[in-house]
This record gives sequence, structure tokens and C-alpha cells, in this order.
Amino acid sequence: MENPAKKLTVASEILGTGMCVPDRVVSNEHFAAYLETSDEWIRERTGIVERRWCDEVTSASALAEPACRDAIKAAGLTAADIDGIVLGTVTPDNIFPSTACYLQSRLGIQSGYAMDVNAVCSGFVYALTTADALIRAGQGTNVLVVGVDIYSRIIDPNDRGTCVLFGDGAGAVVLSRKKGDKLVDGAFGDHMVEGDVRDISGIYGSELRADGRYADLLCVPMGTAHPPTPESLQRGDHFLKMQGREVFKFAVRSLADVTKNVLDKAGVAIEEVDHFVSHQANKRILLSMAKHLGVSEDKVPINVDKYGNTSAATIPIVLAECERSGRIKKGDLVLLSAVGGGFSWGAVLVRW
Ligand SMILES: CC(C)(COP(=O)(O)OP(=O)(O)OC[C@H]1O[C@@H](n2cnc3c(N)ncnc32)[C@H](O)[C@@H]1OP(=O)(O)O)[C@@H](O)C(=O)NCCC(=O)NCCS
Repeated sequence: MENPAKKLTVASEILGTGMCVPDRVVSNEHFAAYLETSDEWIRERTGIVERRWCDEVTSASALAEPACRDAIKAAGLTAADIDGIVLGTVTPDNIFPSTACYLQSRLGIQSGYAMDVNAVCSGFVYALTTADALIRAGQGTNVLVVGVDIYSRIIDPNDRGTCVLFGDGAGAVVLSRKKGDKLVDGAFGDHMVEGDVRDISGIYGSELRADGRYADLLCVPMGTAHPPTPESLQRGDHFLKMQGREVFKFAVRSLADVTKNVLDKAGVAIEEVDHFVSHQANKRILLSMAKHLGVSEDKVPINVDKYGNTSAATIPIVLAECERSGRIKKGDLVLLSAVGGGFSWGAVLVRW
């Protein structure tokens, strides 16, 4: 039987990773000191032990800059080699221009493109898929893909159901067009049409999903449709609102579904995957997802204990940590998956 994986085309690969978290550590005791909560409850229900929060002046672009410099260096490139920036965030420096433009200026890059992607906690998988598609379309060779969020600015410090969950952080990868790739029928990505792709590094496939019927279950209500008024500020409409239990159930189901879809499309068996790098929102969500998929917990890296949920930054932070510790090695097959506000969700299959 023909191996379905042979039909894959691979246009881009991850050449370098980087991360940055603020120095300030906020322990569970911080919340227990003024709210009806406890270190025990937070650990048991979420797996979170501590998180990092920025000071009051650090912007998302400032937090992302060192992560990007690390990723560019790890890729063996300089900032001058970067042709584009695709950045996932929902805590932008300003309403506009994009945080990616501020970041571009901080990195001293004056050419190429820069854009933000708003897909909340799915921001990184959306940004990575967008960057791969841009490379296939001939838009650049080296694209910086960034996930950064500063939720310490949008959580309600008096809502125990949300404020304990989130941290600040940034992660980045350099996604580069496969060397020697040729333009075929107006698009890059003719690699591997001949021969077995299984030992070739790069993005093997992805799937992005959204269902806006669930928009209000996880949102920050304030915006141009609901501008700030004394009453709305009093209500805390500028803070994140979440129906935690509904989000939890949806997250487990959608992560498992989208993972299976991406593997099916790529013709890759679930047993072949070495690491399931999934959005770090809650340890129980990650373990339930592993159970739903029937995969060993050892294949699911977890660092939510140290950083909490850093939204768009969780996946690139895990990737950077796992690469540096040697847990993810050249040749490993890595399945990235995330779910977040919107609801939005998605997965990307990558050979390291
Ligand atoms: C928020 C979350 C940890 C709550 O855990 P849970 O086990 O589902 O708890 P519930 O929401 O059912 O609430 C159970 C009780 O704990 C209480 N509770 C919530 N947060 C608490 C806290 N920090 N400390 C103590 N009690 C808390 C609730 O008020 C509720 O009390 P009640 O029964 O008196 O009303 C969990 O729902 C969750 O992680 N959801 C997904 C959130 C998420 O990951 N969002 C981002 C996705 S990208």
C-alpha cells in the first residue's frame, strides 16, 4: 500500500527557538494572602505552583525581544536575515500599530513584513501555520514566529477563578524555507513529493479551527464595541472573564480531535509521535488529553507548574526549554496543539 505520508509537501522548518520570562516570581501564597484560595487548591486543580509577572512598564514587544534574539542566534542567523514577523498576542503594546511592528523596530529590522495574529491561547499555532503558508507563497525565507502575552495586565486580581491561572512570557522560533526548495506551480514546497518524507525536518501539516458561538465564554468584554465608561470600568469589563468549567471540557475534546485530524491528513500514526507539546493551561487538561488520545503522559511535556498559562507563549516556551534540555532532539516528531478564546484551536505536526 502506498504510504500516505509520501503525499506530503514540506516547505519550511524550524531552525531556532528562544524564550523569555520576567524575573518576578509570583507564588500561590501571593493569592492566598488576600483571597479565599490556597496553594493546595491551586496545585491540585491546575498544577500551577508559580508564575512570572512583568513589572508595570514592560511591553509585550520588550518581553519578546530577547526571546527573538535567542531564536535568531540559535538559527545561526542575524536580524538582517529575517524577512517577516508573525506574532500571536492578545495583550498588544497598543491598539495599533501591531506589536510585531514595535518588535521589528526593537530588533533593528527595516525590511520585510510584520503582523499580529489574534487567536488568544491558539496564537502560536495560528502564527506558525500563517508563516508556513507565507513561505509556501514565496513571501520570505526566514520568518520569525512569536507568541507573547502579558496577562498580569488583564486579569481581575479579585476573581479567584481566573487570576491564579495566568503568567507573562514570550517564546519565538525562526521558521525558514527548506534549502534548495524550488518554485513549483507558483508555490514553494515541492520537497518530498518523491521519496519518503519521514526523515525530513519541517512542518508536515496543520489544521486551524474556530467556533465563534463560544466567544463570550472566554473574553475581555471591553473594546470598540463596548468602550470604557465609568460603569463598565466599575464592572471590570477591562478584565478577562471566563467560564472555567465549560472551557475545560471543550479544551480536552478539541485538542484530541484536532490532533487526530492532523495526524490522519499526514498519514502518520499516533505511535510515531515523540512529543505532544500542547498549550499549557492546566495540568489536568494536559493529562486528560493524553488519556483521550491513549498516549503516555511521558510524551506530554509540562511546565505549567513554573509559568502558569502564558497564552500564546506557552508552546514556544516549552519548545525552547525542551530543545535546550535535550528532550526534543533532531529527527523527533512533535505535535503542537492549542485551544483558546474564540473558541479557537489548532494543531501543527513538525519533524524537528
Ligand atoms: C478554572 C478551573 C481551574 C476551575 O477548576 P474546577 O475544578 O473546574 O472548578 P469549578 O469551576 O468547578 O469550581 C469549583 C469551586 O471552586 C471554586 N474556585 C474557583 N477558583 C478557586 C480558587 N482559586 N481557589 C479556591 N476555590 C476556587 C469555585 O468558585 C467553585 O466554588 P463553588 O462550588 O462554591 O461555586 C478549571 O475550570 C480550569 O482550569 N478551566 C480551564 C481554564 C483554562 O484553562 N482557561 C484557559 C484556556 S486557554
